[in-house]
Amino acid sequence: MIELVLISILAGLYIIYFFYWIRAFQISAPYYPTSKKAIAEMIHAIDSYKIKHIVELGAGDGRVAIALSKKGYTVTAVEFNPILAALIYLRKIIGRHKNLKVVRKDFLKISYNEFDAAFIYLYPKVMKKLSKKIRSEMKKESVLVSNTFEFHDLKPIHKANKIFVYLNE
Ligand SMILES: C[S@@+](CC[C@H](N)C(=O)[O-])C[C@H]1O[C@@H](n2cnc3c(N)ncnc32)[C@H](O)[C@@H]1O
Repeated sequence: MIELVLISILAGLYIIYFFYWIRAFQISAPYYPTSKKAIAEMIHAIDSYKIKHIVELGAGDGRVAIALSKKGYTVTAVEFNPILAALIYLRKIIGRHKNLKVVRKDFLKISYNEFDAAFIYLYPKVMKKLSKKIRSEMKKESVLVSNTFEFHDLKPIHKANKIFVYLNE
């Protein structure tokens, strides 16, 4: 009986995860984590800017958000997959990352005016849509960082190891 309950719970969690994986694949990008090397490059690249509050769009398992929070930034991790959002929340509680906020929402439906930096690791098709939204809502001189994929309507001020840094002009 207990086995049946456990199997049903696991199957349910898997179905939820898979549903959001497919949604992410259709509209933006499914879960694929940033490498440790890219996280280190990104942290190095933003070090010289006056950044207080960073938003991560589609935070996955939270590795980037946690690395940024350990560096002292206030971080908002936005992730619509409830399983991944719960994982980030669990890591936040276990690691006592008080400056990390987890938001289980669609990043296309939130407001960006409270952030002065954004980290993005998403497919180009959604970058175009996002570029217009975040650049009009974020403060001027905000810092935008993208892993692997470029914003084609902006000129990077720094690029190294597939990390592209832009200023919102
Ligand atoms: C390529 S992964 C990047 C994960 C993480 N940012 C990293 O760099 O390790 C993209 C993430 O965005 C999430 N995602 C995709 N579309 C989303 C949306 N519209 N709103 C919120 N999260 C989304 C996916 O579930 C996935 O976890």
